[in-house]
Amino acid sequence: MHVAPFASDLPLINEALRSSYQAVQWGKNILAIAHKTLSARLFNSLFPTEERTQPLSPELQTWLKERYEALLNSDWQDAAAGFYPASLLFDGLWQEFWQFYPVLWLDLPQMWQRARSRRFQDFADTISLDAYPQYYRQNFHYQTDGYLSETSANLYDLQVEILFGGTADAMRRRVIAPIARHLQILPPTPPVRVLDVACGTGRTLKQLRYGFPEAALFGIDLSPTYLRKANSLLAEQVGDLPQLIQGSAEALPYIDNYFNAITCVFLFHELPAPVRQQVIDECARVLQPGGIFVICDSIQAIDSPAQRPMMENFANLFHEPFYRNYIEDDLNHRLEKAGLVVQEVQHHFMSKYWIAVKPQEGGDSSPAAAIPPL
Ligand SMILES: C[S@@+](CC[C@H](N)C(=O)[O-])C[C@H]1O[C@@H](n2cnc3c(N)ncnc32)[C@H](O)[C@@H]1O
Repeated sequence: MHVAPFASDLPLINEALRSSYQAVQWGKNILAIAHKTLSARLFNSLFPTEERTQPLSPELQTWLKERYEALLNSDWQDAAAGFYPASLLFDGLWQEFWQFYPVLWLDLPQMWQRARSRRFQDFADTISLDAYPQYYRQNFHYQTDGYLSETSANLYDLQVEILFGGTADAMRRRVIAPIARHLQILPPTPPVRVLDVACGTGRTLKQLRYGFPEAALFGIDLSPTYLRKANSLLAEQVGDLPQLIQGSAEALPYIDNYFNAITCVFLFHELPAPVRQQVIDECARVLQPGGIFVICDSIQAIDSPAQRPMMENFANLFHEPFYRNYIEDDLNHRLEKAGLVVQEVQHHFMSKYWIAVKPQEGGDSSPAAAIPPL
């Protein structure tokens, strides 16, 4: 674990750092709101009869603002506690922004056309789909080429950052503290192995490298182009390069009981229900007894019915064929069915986190016996 660069006897420096972090985040949020407003106006003027979203009530807007501020506070607190260095709080997609933001605008008309005509299996002829499961052969978010082109990989991070008002990495970082606490309580014999399932362009692995500089990191994803992008992002970091592999989360190409920790960020809402169970079963299989599994995904209607309008808007705006089923799905039950013990469920801004452990062989698997509350 890092020694925090914060010193309690330097409160002014701490305060200045904290204010700078908030200012940068607000800047990102304003840019994201400006983009969403402009693109929605353009869409509405081009297609005035299309009704895509419902307005959010003042209560919901207040809820969003409070959750946003709570997320920034948790992010700050975890850096202050030394779970990752404060410099990570200032890591942004600025280079991507200058390089790819114009491309994002150029791509929008195609996405709108796809959305209007409900075309969501629209791929360039050069892309072979044979190797992929049926449910994956789609333009998730109406994205051009789905997850299967270089352009899609280049635009994805910016799109997610805009969607979440600049908080995507802050939400991804929430997986770090539960793993670090767990490894402190049950220190494994090195090397500590951490796998990120559906690693996409590598943003979570990048955060994990800061949190666990000595760990052997692994990433798996179905998309070769996203993996290439991940590889170039992660190659810029010091430390060993994570081992990336193209493969399917429901048939993980690793031996049993191999990883000390597994993360999975923003995957489950894009899977059909039976595949969600297969992925959880596979993660349970490759996790060591005593290992920890942290899922981060969208909030769910089962625990936040008041936030349902926001979830409906998301499902209406983006092609997310399994999202409506996901927001009602009991992942606690799925994790327990796979033999894992759910230690805690957390919520941060727009995301929900399941923190589960694989019981030690012959040990007491009750939640109370495993790990103290985080
Ligand atoms: C919404 S993105 C999330 C990516 C990344 N975890 C993040 O935080 O941005 C979903 C990712 O899951 C991958 N994916 C979808 N189904 C998969 C499967 N069955 N096995 C492996 N990867 C899969 C996609 O290729 C894509 O990179």
